[in-house]
This record gives sequence, C-alpha cells and structure tokens, in this order.
Amino acid sequence: MPAQRKPIRTVVFPVAGRGTRFLPATKASPKEMLPIVDKPLIQYAAEEALAAGATQLVFVTGSSKRAIEDHFDSAPELEAALEAQGKQELLESLRSIVPSSATCIYIRQPAPLGLGHAVLCARPVVGDEPFFIHLADDLIDAEVPCLKQMASVYAELGGSVLGVQNVERRDTDKYGIVAVEAMTTRVSRITQIVEKPKPELAPSTLGVVGRYLLSPRVFDKLARVGRGAGGEIQLTDGIAALLTEEAVYAYAFEGKRYDCGSKLGYLEATVEYGLKHPQLGEDFAQLLAKLLARRLRR
Ligand code: G1P
Repeated sequence: MPAQRKPIRTVVFPVAGRGTRFLPATKASPKEMLPIVDKPLIQYAAEEALAAGATQLVFVTGSSKRAIEDHFDSAPELEAALEAQGKQELLESLRSIVPSSATCIYIRQPAPLGLGHAVLCARPVVGDEPFFIHLADDLIDAEVPCLKQMASVYAELGGSVLGVQNVERRDTDKYGIVAVEAMTTRVSRITQIVEKPKPELAPSTLGVVGRYLLSPRVFDKLARVGRGAGGEIQLTDGIAALLTEEAVYAYAFEGKRYDCGSKLGYLEATVEYGLKHPQLGEDFAQLLAKLLARRLRR
C-alpha cells in the first residue's frame, strides 16, 4: 500500500517573463493572456491545476502583468451588463473562471533573475509542502490533465516528479534535459539534469516541459545555487542539487504538448483547439479545407 500523502494544495505560475518572441503583441499585454480560440493560456493553466486539486494559485508576476490579476478577479460592471442583456451563458463562463474554494495570490518578482529565482519568490506562500509549478507556455491537451497524472505518480512514489517528453536532438538547447535510470515504463528516477545542453553534450533527448511537482527542499537548493546558464538562477540547477538527496522522477505524460512560446507551436494549438471546439469546429474545418485547397492549386 502506498503511504498516505497529503494532496498538493499550491501551484506556482511563473508569469514574469517578457514574451519578446511575440512582440509587438506582448508590448503592453502579458504573453500568458494570448488566447487559444477564446481562452487565454493562463486560464488553461489554472484549469489544469484546479483539476489536479490545487486550491492556492500563486502567480509570480512582473511589470505589465496586471491583466492577469484582472482576468482572475470579478468584473462587476461587465457582469451586470451581461445580466441585463440576458447573456447567462457568457456570465457563467466568467463567474466560473476560478471557483470560490480557490484563492489567487500575486507575488512580484523584483528583478528578472530567472525561473529558479521566480520560484524562490513563492517560498513564503508555499511553505514546507510539496507544490506544483506550471509554465503556461507549454499547453498540454490530455484526457487526464497532466498535473493530475503527476499527482497520481506522487501519490504512489512520493519524491518530486517532472513532466518530460522526447525532443529532437537538435533542440536539446531549448530544454532542461534529464538522464534516467531506465525508461521502461512512463516513470523513471532521474540521475542527472542539465539546463539547455548543446546537442552533442546532452545526456539524452528527454526534455522537461513546463510541469513540475517539487519537494519544498528545492527552496533551500535554489537559495544556494547562484547564477547558471544565461546568467540566470535556474530551476534546473536547484533540481540538480535536490536529486543528490531525494528521489526525483521523470514522468512521460500522456497527452499532446504545444510549445506556445513559439509562433508555430502557438498556431498549431490554435488550429487544433479550433477544430475541436464544440461550436466552431465543423465550420472551421470546412474553412481550413477551402483555404488549403486554394493554396495547393497555386
Ligand atoms: C524553461 C526551463 C527549461 C524547461 C522549459 C520548458 O525554459 O528553464 O528547463 O525545459 O522551460 O518549457 P524556458 O522555455 O523558459 O527558456
């Protein structure tokens, strides 16, 4: 019988990044507010964490990120207007963004010192409990939400769990890359983790995508690691220190990941979510077919 473990209560969303790859769209508006069809990326992120049982949503923000706070807040004037117009469905879609049982907490990252530093900023709220980290750029479409899958792995094995997938060798310098004991099932213990190694130096092609379930001891490690790749305090370096003392597992999740930090990945997600959309899907499929046929004729 696996030991009884407490459910994970807190999720950290590091959302202070600049989003330069999407400029000028992200000049005055956060990249996490870019929509996939009709919902911003950060709402998909919140929904995934809530589905995994999180009740405390911690956003580590920076400048120009107020729209995120507004998005998760109530909007009395807008709600009153929708009510007056009898637009109940839309009203419900706004009111249900965050259930009343969940709390949103905002922490400002005082300087852009890296992902590890952003996570460390959340320490006073997370305290001494395991917690999730979710990077909203990585959108994962899965039958069972990815963080929920990871919570099940944790319930069985304890330790820390990182969501991984195989990446192209030429792309290892875009990811934290792990070496594992043996990947015979979806779960394996990590023996090494390196931030963005060059393809010829990467210990494998298993890349960490933006899902983490971490033991709170990672905070002690992050407080000590100093600046790593790119002159930033790297989460990967904190995890590298953690795995010398505690088990950290790689988990090859079920589902499809879209890299919405790149324009092509973002477009791919937009098209696939559009095709799956209950109201739009059919019309959108016909439209796409028409556009493609026209292009192929050229
Ligand atoms: C971050 C992490 C990296 C991880 C990646 C997943 O990098 O530092 O280890 O593999 O997220 O998306 P970033 O994409 O912020 O450069």
